[in-house]
Amino acid sequence: MTNPQTAPRHDTLDNAGRRNLLRLGSGATLASLLAPGALWASGIEAANAGRQISYLSGFYKPTQVESTSLGLKVRGNIPAELSGRYFRNGHNPKAGAKPAFWFAGDGMVFGVRIRNGKAEWYRNRWVDTPALHGAPLFRPDRSIDFAASAAATSIVAHAGRILALQEVNFPYEMTPELETVGAYTFGGALKSNMTAHPKIDPQTGEMLFFGASPVPPHLVFHQVDRHGQLAHSEIIEGAGPSVMHDFMITKNYVIFFDTSVTFNPRASLPFPYAWNPKYQAKIGLLPRDRSKGPVRWIPMDPFYTFHQSNAWEDASGRIVVQGTQWDQAAWEHTSMWINSVAGHGQWPGKGMHMAQWTIDPVQATASVKVVDDLSTDFPTINAALLTSASRYTYAVAFPNTKLKQPALVKYDSRTGQRQVREFPSGQMPSEPNFAAAAGATGEDNGWILSLVSDLASQRGHLLILDAHDIRKPPVAVIDIPDWVSAGVHGAWISDKELAPS
Ligand SMILES: [Fe+2]
Repeated sequence: MTNPQTAPRHDTLDNAGRRNLLRLGSGATLASLLAPGALWASGIEAANAGRQISYLSGFYKPTQVESTSLGLKVRGNIPAELSGRYFRNGHNPKAGAKPAFWFAGDGMVFGVRIRNGKAEWYRNRWVDTPALHGAPLFRPDRSIDFAASAAATSIVAHAGRILALQEVNFPYEMTPELETVGAYTFGGALKSNMTAHPKIDPQTGEMLFFGASPVPPHLVFHQVDRHGQLAHSEIIEGAGPSVMHDFMITKNYVIFFDTSVTFNPRASLPFPYAWNPKYQAKIGLLPRDRSKGPVRWIPMDPFYTFHQSNAWEDASGRIVVQGTQWDQAAWEHTSMWINSVAGHGQWPGKGMHMAQWTIDPVQATASVKVVDDLSTDFPTINAALLTSASRYTYAVAFPNTKLKQPALVKYDSRTGQRQVREFPSGQMPSEPNFAAAAGATGEDNGWILSLVSDLASQRGHLLILDAHDIRKPPVAVIDIPDWVSAGVHGAWISDKELAPS
């Protein structure tokens, strides 16, 4: 692209950055920008009178029951070596709650315990946060309450701890049986919000993450060591008020996507973000070795990316990033669904495509290439390959001109081929999550797990597919005797991940 921009400085918590970071806790600027109650508007019922709200109906109809079922019925055979838990988070508001947009809905985690070839239990639990009981994001003094989280976006395990995440708040610790422990701040060290997409480096065991904010400081970077200690926090200069939902790491770099969807408190929609072609979109390269200088920002043409699945440095030192790219139409379709605008359609996503970015860290240039024509998001990989060259990516495809129903897709970046598993009408799969086979040597030697919401039976089931060929009949289908609302991100958490390090 064009000339690189180098941020003028980077603050650490040992200097002026501390003052800026402390401002995060006040949130006063943000609160003053938003109309009173805008985030939690109660007018949605009137606005939606006579029609269904997108994120509260169909596949997204919330369940109002927290249940526990033991000894689940299994069709097929669960691989005996799978020992762990499949968890999936999502927005599932309590009866009477009035979330003004999808992301404001209360978080519920749905889980299945698998051991010795059996599905021992199913549990679904709300993440028990102050927000679940009506606490607003802003306190009466207009300071932001990072603990008032919907905690509804993702769930991850690191250093033996399970965290439910939503990007504008602190993480919430959960037990392996899905009881809520409470807001987790790394012993009080965390002073910013935390993305729902931290990255765990399989080589070092570190967990890297960021907190993004619509008001300065817009971007704070954090490093947690393999033992779970928050070792470093730093304000990253040069980022703006965009929706920075995900990021990527390689062996030597952290990669930020400062995109064309930016905070707009004057937007007419409850979720106050809009496509902004006047904003200079850019990609940031931050050396992981923090003695090697500040972030470098590379200007890009207008774009948005919601999720990235992997990144690595190739033999020539260039950085390859894989993920989904969105254009303006894709963002605006999804924005209408998130805000339940009339005519939004049944599916949350349309028009986003698998893409590959190539970044030259020496020249500070970047280019992007769309590699597929399906409307795809929730891309995942075998997590052991994060920061290394990977061949396979798994994703959810939403109906578009190529597909009538939602599907799971497996991409082979070496051959350019894809496998598509289209679901029957009335079924919706969740993000595909990879579980490795014991002693696996091949990248796709393992299974894909995905939680399916089934409108006809008003129940759910957990699919276990052979990752070699996701089109084959399932290895196992675990029947869940209750309704499972469609949601957001899931995870396979093996027992090894919860063992003391
Ligand atoms: Fe996400």
